[in-house]
Amino acid sequence: MNYRHAFHAGNHADVLKHVVLLAVCDALLRKPAPCFALDTHAGRGLYALDADPAQRTGEADAGVGKLLAMPAAGDPCIARYLDAIRACRAAHGEHAYPGSPWLLAHALRAQDRIACCELQPDEAAILKANFRGDPRVAVHQRDGYAALKALLPPRAGDMKPTRGLVLVDPPYEAQLDEFDAALAALRDGLARWPQACYALWYPIKQRRALRPFHRAAAALPAKSALLVELLVRAGDSPLRMNGSGLLLLNPPWQLQATLEPALEALCDVLGEAGAPTPRCEWLKPPG
Ligand SMILES: C[S@@+](CC[C@H](N)C(=O)[O-])C[C@H]1O[C@@H](n2cnc3c(N)ncnc32)[C@H](O)[C@@H]1O
Repeated sequence: MNYRHAFHAGNHADVLKHVVLLAVCDALLRKPAPCFALDTHAGRGLYALDADPAQRTGEADAGVGKLLAMPAAGDPCIARYLDAIRACRAAHGEHAYPGSPWLLAHALRAQDRIACCELQPDEAAILKANFRGDPRVAVHQRDGYAALKALLPPRAGDMKPTRGLVLVDPPYEAQLDEFDAALAALRDGLARWPQACYALWYPIKQRRALRPFHRAAAALPAKSALLVELLVRAGDSPLRMNGSGLLLLNPPWQLQATLEPALEALCDVLGEAGAPTPRCEWLKPPG
């Protein structure tokens, strides 16, 4: 397990994932019923973009850095994301960048609960320290895939949440095998908590190489499946991450209409010359 997210925090893939994550949270929270969020591969929850790992790669400059340099964010999802970054910086310093646990804790309410899993011991210790004062957040140093069996359906005391979100954000060190592990974990989750929204992040090198994954995702026993993909350059090099995507199972109503303009706007800002049109389309339409 060599992957450390501190080298990649705030890059174009984080931007896409975190814009979509906040849009999903906001849609789920339109109703007052309590919500439960499970973050299976949580990382440390909070990053410093002036620290050595982020400075060494410079990836955030081509991601969140470009968005922060815009005079104004026209799209509401991007404005929401940038507001969250500013709130994080107001609390943790001008170079802070929020990870998914921080964004979940920021978006969710007092009546909601969050479980975060992180396998790497040092990262899990930092994650625990970051959320020590927040009674809504439980941190588990454990395998996130196994957590879809162990922690679902949520049993959060008397609150019994019926609505919720599961974010699966693995490092893909195992390359193609990681897609298989993630799909199997989603199947486990759907069997235990069928009504939740599941979001699986994945890297894109060559789009055509993803066809078997898309076919397998469409066959999952979810009510609906939406694909959201953003490439920042032509997806024809097998050697680098040219973009990323999210598979959203049972996404909230009207999420596609909300995300389409956000993706266009993200592509305008983050995309290099020749970047293809982003995708926001149903693998399995609702109903
Ligand atoms: C892409 S990073 C997570 C980033 C985070 N979700 C965010 O958006 O801020 C993936 C994390 O998963 C951790 N990890 C790797 N294998 C894991 C496993 N089987 N279960 C839980 N965590 C794992 C890595 O240590 C790493 O911190």
